[in-house]
Amino acid sequence: MNNPSQILVTGGTGYIGSHTAVELQQAGFEVVIVDNLSNSSIGVLDGIARITGRRPHFAQVDCLDIDGLHRVFKEHPDIRAVIHFAAYKSVGESVQQPLLYYRNNLQSLLNLLEVMITQHVPNLVFSSSCTVYGQPEVLPVTENASTQPAASPYGNTKQISEEIIYDTVHSGAPVKSILLRYFNPIGAHPSAEIGELPLGVPQNLVPFITQTAIGIREKLRVFGNDYKTPDGSCIRDYISVVDLAKAHVAACRRLLNNLSTDKVEVFNIGTGKGLSVLELIHVFREVTGVALPYEIVGRREGDIEQIWADPHKANTVLGWTAKESIDDTLRSAWKWEQKDGL
Ligand code: UD1
Repeated sequence: MNNPSQILVTGGTGYIGSHTAVELQQAGFEVVIVDNLSNSSIGVLDGIARITGRRPHFAQVDCLDIDGLHRVFKEHPDIRAVIHFAAYKSVGESVQQPLLYYRNNLQSLLNLLEVMITQHVPNLVFSSSCTVYGQPEVLPVTENASTQPAASPYGNTKQISEEIIYDTVHSGAPVKSILLRYFNPIGAHPSAEIGELPLGVPQNLVPFITQTAIGIREKLRVFGNDYKTPDGSCIRDYISVVDLAKAHVAACRRLLNNLSTDKVEVFNIGTGKGLSVLELIHVFREVTGVALPYEIVGRREGDIEQIWADPHKANTVLGWTAKESIDDTLRSAWKWEQKDGL
């Protein structure tokens, strides 16, 4: 029997990367993780092993280190595809330190593409974001909607990365790619063996909610209730991180089985359902029974009013659909918070 296909997961000890490593292993792939551990812990590998019964291969390599990347591919000749998560992701920090973001997020991708081409690994799944749409005129947003100028250097790195991949693939280089545009990933693995580990004060809504509910934060601040939405708060499409991870497995299979109809394919990865901040707070209280003190404050700069996905293309072409309910996903986030990290 042939060796199982190996998938290289950069940023594989991070939040979405670790959940994807689990789903890949459970689908029969072997996983090779590359991570510099700048925003994650080595203990995540134990969590993955406890869930799947298998510890992924691991190399502590920074994607800025092109020689290090070459070594990883040479040591693992069965790598057939790469999922590239490794990137900085804090919107606020990117505004403060744009050069850091451009250097890290773009140089990592350039290195990876060069190494993939040299090492004859032709399949790339890229971690993109619905941030490329800005505030869409038509909702739900489809992949055909035009992209808007990015609101932050972080968002711009996602747009430029998409363009780099597009140009590389269309230059005739032996690479094909699937760009997954995520909506708002939330929750944790239901086992609570892995989850999100924000450094410092969380910027994203759900980790802030769970830290407030457990008493680390005094109260949640709801950024604005004067938007043109039914209850005045912003609307997002909150997608379970487990569902999101499964979308990567589907994308790998599509690339490995040569099913792509374009050399670069783009898919929205969302539920198709928009939820307001106040609705999410309500659901969290209902499913956990925990008090959640909050106050309404002014709008946060850079926030868009409302966005949710049209996931029809992912549902039909990729054969992937979000399955987890918002109730279970928020329960998983709460279970993870209560477990007190790794
Ligand atoms: C943000 C980024 C997005 C990135 C994503 C990564 C911006 C403008 N966008 O999305 O590019 O891909 O994180 O996960 O920053 N909220 C509160 N109180 C809080 C925190 C958030 O009311 O303490 C509200 C926000 O105003 C927003 C919603 O909750 O309406 C979701 O916020 P967040 O989780 O930060 O995600 P996005 O801003 O949608």
